[in-house]
Amino acid sequence: MRIQARAVVVVLAAGLLSVIVAPSYAANEEAVTYYKDVLPLIQDNCQTCHQPEGLNLGGVIAPMSFMSYDETRPWARAIARKVEAHEMPPWFASEPTGVFSNERGLTDAEIDTIVRWVDAGAPAGNKADAPAPRQFVEATSGGWSLGTPDFVFQLDEPYFIDDDVYDLNISFFKELTEAELPDDVWVRGWEFKTGAGNVAHHMCGFVRAPAKDDKPIEEAAAEDGAAGTGQLLTCIAEGAEAVMLPDGYGLQLEAGSTITYNMHFHKRPGPDTGVYTQPEIAFFVEHRPVKYKVINDSIGNTGFEIPPNHGNYRIGMSRTLEKDTYVLTYWPHAHMRAKASRYTAIYPDGREELLLDVPQYDQGWQETYKYKEPKLLPKGTRIDISFWYDNSPENAARYDFRSDESPGHGPRTDDEMSLGFIGYAVEIEPEEATSSDQQ
Ligand code: HEC
Repeated sequence: MRIQARAVVVVLAAGLLSVIVAPSYAANEEAVTYYKDVLPLIQDNCQTCHQPEGLNLGGVIAPMSFMSYDETRPWARAIARKVEAHEMPPWFASEPTGVFSNERGLTDAEIDTIVRWVDAGAPAGNKADAPAPRQFVEATSGGWSLGTPDFVFQLDEPYFIDDDVYDLNISFFKELTEAELPDDVWVRGWEFKTGAGNVAHHMCGFVRAPAKDDKPIEEAAAEDGAAGTGQLLTCIAEGAEAVMLPDGYGLQLEAGSTITYNMHFHKRPGPDTGVYTQPEIAFFVEHRPVKYKVINDSIGNTGFEIPPNHGNYRIGMSRTLEKDTYVLTYWPHAHMRAKASRYTAIYPDGREELLLDVPQYDQGWQETYKYKEPKLLPKGTRIDISFWYDNSPENAARYDFRSDESPGHGPRTDDEMSLGFIGYAVEIEPEEATSSDQQ
């Protein structure tokens, strides 16, 4: 039966005989329906993103909701096309498989089911066959996917994104007062809300510990970009869910720290298109003793120039680890010309391991790859990271940039970047190993 189903899909994919072949299903087997067969797949694989505005992903959400039959039905053709092309659900790493907690994908059998349903006219079927609606934590936690946070720091004043704004990169700062954060705490999770719905393209959060002799944060930000404003928490863009750290892992928030909300807004300019935003970052406190201190860092190359009209230019960077390192996340970050990225480990004994391969990098999806279990890279391991860029006239025409220039590192959309972010943890010294409750 599986073989037969596959053979039919091949025929349908070729665009042949679909009218003649499809009815044979009706004769041979039970019809595929939305409530019985398709809704469970959509619940499990699509609804985290395809749901109405306001839930999850910090407000960076998919433009259409697939919560009900009526909402899904008009998209049936597009759904079949996207799942067959493996474009939805989105996932960009070819290797490794099975190790990342946020890995997305449908099996061949699941894709068959969706395609057969669409081909049969996308019937609703019997509502009694439907699974119970998926319960989203957000419904009872004020919209936070990790649950109810211990504290939320919202930008003090709302900011108006003007009618004539098309593309805006901007950082906001908030110094935490004693009332807001009286003591240092270890946190085990954090989550963002952009507060700007579909106008937010991405949001990054940073925390800078207080240091009296430091230059003012506005100055540091002007000189070094967002990276000058402290330790990265995370960035969210389409598709990035928040995560809790594993037991025993924490990130320290020091009293008196300054939070940076680094925002990228993107919208159609015009009368009455302006919107308010007031971004928020929620934190979840780790009450148990913390053994591993989390650091979000990047291995970057900022000294490059991509030659004009070069269709396959590689930029590389590496770092040798000074301590046993427990890797939690990778986030390859580059802009429009980037077409592939790869992280490799070279162990002290010379053995190589492919840590992450993204053969078709798409800057529109700033995916963070999150390990299910922390990955130990022993002291002395070298991490090599490469990005490949397409600065050809063809690619330039596609993304609207100039290929006859030599882009270097920079923050604007038409500058380039080559930053291999890594979220990792190292064992903390015994005297640092306090829990929040002991302080
Ligand atoms: C990680 C978030 C995410 C998940 C999971 C996801 N989508 Fe999407 N989807 C998006 C976003 C964002 C867009 C709009 C941007 C785009 O089209 O690239 C989109 C667009 C679409 C579109 C519209 C394409 C068009 O023609 O405009 C379809 C259809 C779609 N998704 C189907 C699905 C299906 C089916 C699933 C589950 C099997 C799914 N998506 C899972 C985020 C997601």
